[in-house]
Amino acid sequence: MENKSIVSIANYTKEKMQYLLDMATEFEAKPNRRLLEGKVVATLFFEPSTRTRLSFETAANRLGARVIGFSDPKATSSSKGETLKDTIKMVSNYADVIVMRHYLEGAAQYASEVTHVPIINAGDGSNLHPSQTMLDLYSIYKTQGTLENLNIYMVGDLKYGRTIHSLLMSMKKYNPTFTFIAPKELEMPEEYKIYCKENGIKYTERQDFDEDTLTDCDILYMTRVQRERFSDLMEYERVKDAYILRANMLGKAKPNMKILHPLPRVNEIEYDVDDSPHAYYFQQAQNGLYAREALICDVLGITLEDIKKYGK
Ligand code: CP
Repeated sequence: MENKSIVSIANYTKEKMQYLLDMATEFEAKPNRRLLEGKVVATLFFEPSTRTRLSFETAANRLGARVIGFSDPKATSSSKGETLKDTIKMVSNYADVIVMRHYLEGAAQYASEVTHVPIINAGDGSNLHPSQTMLDLYSIYKTQGTLENLNIYMVGDLKYGRTIHSLLMSMKKYNPTFTFIAPKELEMPEEYKIYCKENGIKYTERQDFDEDTLTDCDILYMTRVQRERFSDLMEYERVKDAYILRANMLGKAKPNMKILHPLPRVNEIEYDVDDSPHAYYFQQAQNGLYAREALICDVLGITLEDIKKYGK
C-alpha cells in the first residue's frame, strides 16, 4: 500500500489543496463524525506544543479514533538512548497513523522512510510545519475568499519560523506577493529567497514597520522570535522586541486585512490588537481542528465523499 505520509504539502496541486479545504469546510460545519472508529492515532511530541498536539488529539477524538502518545520524551525510552528509528518502528506496531513533532530538521522525512504507517509532520526543527500551513491556508481562504494574488506580509523570525517556510512554499501556485520584515539576524534564509526566484514568486524585504507599511497588506503573518533556536541568548535579547504590532498601527489597513500568528505569542502582538476586527489568530487556531481532521482522514483513505455521506 502507498505510504501517504505528510512531510510537506508544498507540492500539492491546487486541486488537492481545494479538496482538503473542502474537507475542512465539511468538518467545520459538523466536527463530530465517527469515521475512524477502531483506529488508533499516535501523537509523538519530542518538542513542546499546545495547539498542534491538542488539536490533533481533539480531531482524532471527534473522528472516533483512540489516541496514544507522549508530550514529554523524557518519560519515554528515547531518554534511555532508543533511536528515533526504533521508536517509530515500535509505535507502528500499535497505531494506524503517527503524528510527530521533532526538534531535528528532516526527522519526519526520515520517520516516513522507516515505516509503512503514515507519518504526519507536526513540525521538524526550523524546517516545515505542514499541518499549520493547511490551517493557515484554510484561514486565508475563509477570510479572503481566495488564495490567489494576495499581498502577504511575514514579520518577525523568518529565519527559524517553520510555519513561515511551509506557508511560503505552499503559496507558490497562487501568485502571492510577499513582503519580508525581519531584523538582519532573522531575515529569510537564502535558500527560501532562491526558492522564490526559481518559482517566480515576487518578494521584497524591508525593515520599517508602522501604520504606513501595512496599507496594501491582505494577510499580516506575525511570528514569535524563537528563543529555543538561539545558541547565543544575548543575541535573542537583542532582537526579541524588534517588531511589535500595536492597535494604533492598524488605522490605514485594508478592511479585509487579517492578522495571523501561529501562536504562541510572546510580546510581538500587543493585547490591544486582540479586539481589532483585523485580529484573526484565535479563530486561526480553531481552524486547526478542522484542517487536522481533514489531514488525518486523508492519510487514512477517508474521502470527501465519505465525509459528506456520514450521518445521511
Ligand atoms: N502553532 C503551533 O505549532 O503551536 P504549538 O507549538 O502550541 O503546537
